Amino acid sequence: METKTMVPIVISVVAILIAGAALSMGYRAVQAPQVPVAPTINPAQVSITTSHGNLTLAQLAEIQPGLGTVMLEYGNRFYIMYYAAKNGNWDLASYQLKEALEIQETGETTRPGRAPMLKSFESAYLEPLNNTINAKDWNAFQTAYNNTVQGCNGCHAANKFPYIKYTLPSNPPSLP
Ligand code: HEC
Repeated sequence: METKTMVPIVISVVAILIAGAALSMGYRAVQAPQVPVAPTINPAQVSITTSHGNLTLAQLAEIQPGLGTVMLEYGNRFYIMYYAAKNGNWDLASYQLKEALEIQETGETTRPGRAPMLKSFESAYLEPLNNTINAKDWNAFQTAYNNTVQGCNGCHAANKFPYIKYTLPSNPPSLP
């Protein structure tokens, strides 16, 4: 073959090789993380030493806070958040809501069956409530707060706990 014909062919081959290499690098970059290998250990047989004696890993997993414990903290933070906002201490109100969301995540982890409802509650009620805190708008806060409490109790009723009706304690907590 003549050199004239060879040059474009060589250029195309090199271009294809470069494109191929680039594609495979890109592919590697977006590859899904490796699926963890199923543990070969039995949590009931892993012994953890505590200052009170030994517990198994299975026992430790079992005693992580469920929704009842999470909700006690949730309710308490809601109470403090309300009065903080009422006193114009918006930073404290914001902090309480942020911490409420953190304990909610614990509930989503230990009770994954409830996670979808908790997540939709967050976007339907807690995010609008948080916006009123950021805006330091007491009137808007009150409306969003009342809507949220209805959402709280709606979820209780939907989960067969209609008798758990959160209401705001009438005495304010002692606040800084
Ligand atoms: C995703 C549904 C859901 C939402 C949203 C929800 N709760 Fe609950 N809550 C529950 C369930 C379920 C229980 C019962 C606890 C259990 O499962 O043991 C409960 C229990 C409670 C309890 C009783 C805890 C106890 O054991 O004495 C309080 C207080 C409470 N919730 C407050 C709130 C407040 C305040 C909100 C809103 C800011 C809220 N909850 C939102 C599902 C929800």
